[in-house]
Parts: sequence; C-alpha cells; structure tokens
Amino acid sequence: MDSKIVLITGASSGFGFETANYLSDLGYKVYGTSRTKPKNSISFTHKTLDITSEHSVDTCIESIISKEGKIDVLINNAGFILSGSVEETEIAEAKSVMETNFFGAVRMVNAVLPIMREQKSGRIINISSSAGVLAIPNLGFYSASKFALEGYSETLRLEASRFNIQVSLVEPAIFKTNIGRSKLMVKNKIKEYDSMRRSVKMALKRGYDNGGDPKRIAKLMANILKEKQPKLRYRIGPNSLLVSLLKKFMPDEINSWAMKKYFNF
Ligand SMILES: NC(=O)c1ccc[n+]([C@@H]2O[C@H](COP(=O)([O-])OP(=O)(O)OC[C@H]3O[C@@H](n4cnc5c(N)ncnc54)[C@H](OP(=O)(O)O)[C@@H]3O)[C@@H](O)[C@H]2O)c1
Repeated sequence: MDSKIVLITGASSGFGFETANYLSDLGYKVYGTSRTKPKNSISFTHKTLDITSEHSVDTCIESIISKEGKIDVLINNAGFILSGSVEETEIAEAKSVMETNFFGAVRMVNAVLPIMREQKSGRIINISSSAGVLAIPNLGFYSASKFALEGYSETLRLEASRFNIQVSLVEPAIFKTNIGRSKLMVKNKIKEYDSMRRSVKMALKRGYDNGGDPKRIAKLMANILKEKQPKLRYRIGPNSLLVSLLKKFMPDEINSWAMKKYFNF
C-alpha cells in the first residue's frame, strides 16, 4: 500500500518533533520541516524551511512533489510567542508574529491547496491555541495571530470541503515544549506594565511546569488522521475544556474577570 505523505512545519522541537516521529513510526511518510535541524534523533525526513519566505516554501514543496508526486496531509504547526503588552509592541514586532503564526500557515496552504485540489483529497490541520479562544494578557499579538488562524481555518474548511479536503484546528492549552524558553520580548518596555508582566510570566511558568506532555499532541494528530469526518476543532490539555466552555457560555465580563484572576493582576 502506498504511504500517505505528511508535511509538517516546526518539526525541530515540541509538538512538531513529536508528531513527525510518531506519524513516521506509524508508517506515514513524513517530511518534517524547520529552519534548524532537530537536535535529537529522528525517524522522519527533515527539510529546511522558513515559512516566512515564499521562495523557501515553494522550493520545499517542489522537492517533495518531484519525489512523491503528492501531499496527503499538511500540518501547520510552526509558531512562536512574542511577549509584551499591546501598547509596548511596535508594528514591525506585531507583523513578525503574524508573518510566522498566521501568514506562515497561509503561505503553506497557498502552495499545497492546488496540489490537494488536483488530487481531489487532502487533510490540513492548523495548530491554534487556547490563546486563540480567550485572549491572554501580555501576549496580545500571539493571541491575535491565533484568532486570525481560527477565522481563516473556518473559511478554508467551508471552501475546501467541495474538493474533498478536510480542514481542522487543534487548540492546545499549555504543554511542556521550548515555546516558553524561546519566546521573544518586545524591545521597548514601559514601566507601568512591569507588574502585569511579572504576574503573567509567573502564571505561565506555573502553567509550563505543570504543562501537558507534547507526545499527547502527536497521538491526537494520529487520531484525527484516522477519522473519516474530522471535526473543525479539537481541544487538548489542562483547562482547554474550561476555556472553551467559558467562551461559549459566559458573558465577556466574566471571562475578563476570570483571566485577570488566573493571571493575578
Ligand atoms: N507549547 C504550548 O504550550 C502550546 C500551546 C498552544 C499552542 N501551541 C502552538 O503549537 C505550535 C508548536 O509550538 P511548540 O510548543 O511545539 O513550540 P517549540 O517547541 O518552540 O517549536 C516551535 C517550532 O516552530 C518552528 N519555527 C518557528 N519559526 C519558524 C519559521 N519562521 N519557519 C519555520 N519553522 C519555524 C521552530 O523551528 P526552528 O526555530 O528550527 O525554525 C520549532 O520547530 C505553535 O504554533 C504554538 O503556537 C503551543
């Protein structure tokens, strides 16, 4: 039987690394991509890819297509966190988050969708976040990038279903990966935000210390790929159900209160 071809971004660490290895071990032919090489041993094929560059995306897709002739699954996973209040964030900094977390996924879809449309089949999974359900203080543009990905994916799912292409979102809560350690900070800090910054940092640190095992994300991906009719949204991790229930059933004022309480500011 021919193997399904899976392309995943952000495979040098965290969710992407675990998912690429896990799917490869299950028999998928996996192309895991990132700007740097994974540090640990891998069972998938690694390709260098910067999702902020159209040239890099096109070169990567062409090389996979020339070898395999198809792409069955695209997992848009690469992303990073920018820490800083909305007021402290310069436009260039805000754009850099959107370039990776949102337009990076868009670039990948633009390159892969025509191939899947021609094949009349495909799966696209976009990794969002609980921060794409309820916005987090001090991570305004990270949240905005995930909210953008949510709206985009809803439309993409509607439009692509006519070509037998199924689109899903995964909304993880906090998991133990490198994302907290590798986060970028805004350049220009305003001292009036210092106490909020400290409180949010401490709450997130507590979250990361007790965060989920990223191998759970890999298993969830495998389960989604097994489903004949995958759902639009999958929530996973500590508090992810609570976050979605708050969003669905509670007034905005209660949610603002809950976020301030959780982040202690
Ligand atoms: N961990 C969590 O608690 C959590 C919760 C909710 C959602 N998420 C989401 O899950 C996804 C994966 O995060 P993670 O936690 O696994 O973080 P991670 O361990 O820091 O991994 C991030 C990956 O993204 C890649 N990446 C970053 N910028 C890139 C670019 N311009 N081009 C290509 N690859 C790029 C990195 O590789 P290189 O630096 O080598 O390029 C790395 O492989 C992200 O979208 C994140 O927002 C994470």
